[in-house]
Amino acid sequence: MEKQRLFTGLQPSGDLHIGNYFGALKPFLDLYPKYESFLMVADYHSLTSLRDPDTLQRNILNVVRDYMAVGVDPEEVVIFRQSDNPDHTELAWVLNCMVTVPFLQQGHAYKDKVAKGLEPNVGLFTYPILQAADIVLYDTDVVPVGEDQRQHLEYTREAVGKFNRAYKETLKEPETVIVEGVGIVPGTDGQKMSKSYGNVIPLFGESNEIEKAVMSIVTDSEGNIPENVLAIHKLFRDEDELLSLYEKNAGKYGELKKILSADINSFIEPLKAKRARITDSEVREVLAEGARKAKEVSQSVMERVRDTIGINLN
Ligand code: ADP
Ligand code: TRP
Repeated sequence: MEKQRLFTGLQPSGDLHIGNYFGALKPFLDLYPKYESFLMVADYHSLTSLRDPDTLQRNILNVVRDYMAVGVDPEEVVIFRQSDNPDHTELAWVLNCMVTVPFLQQGHAYKDKVAKGLEPNVGLFTYPILQAADIVLYDTDVVPVGEDQRQHLEYTREAVGKFNRAYKETLKEPETVIVEGVGIVPGTDGQKMSKSYGNVIPLFGESNEIEKAVMSIVTDSEGNIPENVLAIHKLFRDEDELLSLYEKNAGKYGELKKILSADINSFIEPLKAKRARITDSEVREVLAEGARKAKEVSQSVMERVRDTIGINLN
């Protein structure tokens, strides 16, 4: 039986943290071998918030390197970037003509910006439609994403449904797969770990950076078990083992943090070593090969769309 097709994307938005690893990368690693898989670097999407060309370039290469370092095999997954394939922006325009302004005004990211009095650019407004184009260009069956992306997948289904009803059955409606990560990984302050809260433990940090982040985990002064430390520790060690370790070191917060920091380091050391061996030119080659394979699939879907809407003159 042919494998179903999986498609997912990620924004090149900076250094990864352990919340990204356990919430997104690890579940992707477990899932992708069961499918014919595509992993896209959404560099055009990131223009909605990032305006520094050097940072963008660095982030694009780094995010691909990060995914390869944790075990995404470019022989098995088509890794490519959105901007290498103009079919994405072309189809986004066509789909923009399918959905209504009031519907897009319900978008969470858009509403948040407006509510904060920030300037929402048009790119941010139609962000979900570019994402819909990304997905349907590959006749995608399943889209694994975090809970935060649920609404975007609803936009995709809306755009596809409208298109198919307005013309004829042309685009495939994808299924959403909300990936089962470990739930929300807490940051050093106990809130959700997130770049924007400055509470992260970096995935590829130097050992002194890891130690500094771990030492800054907020612990309350009551009780013998530092819950915030334990919550992160559980990601790296068996719970039963931890129970006796934490009982033995009851009240010794500093000691427990040192052990956690050592555990994190020994987990990421081999990943870091692998990452260091992946050169820029290797990453560029992966992206070039990925662009070729992606185009091979998307161009026939795009042709189908052009036929359907009457852009192709007979
Ligand atoms: P950040 O909040 O640091 O900006 P992103 O929004 O770029 O992270 O998240 C990228 C992916 O990592 C998403 O799929 C998201 O679900 C996952 N992720 C981010 N932070 C966490 C966390 N603290 N716990 C679990 N998963 C997370
Ligand atoms: N919006 C997604 C995020 O921020 C990234 C993304 C872009 C995506 N295009 C996609 C995810 C297509 C899944 C499918 O995480």
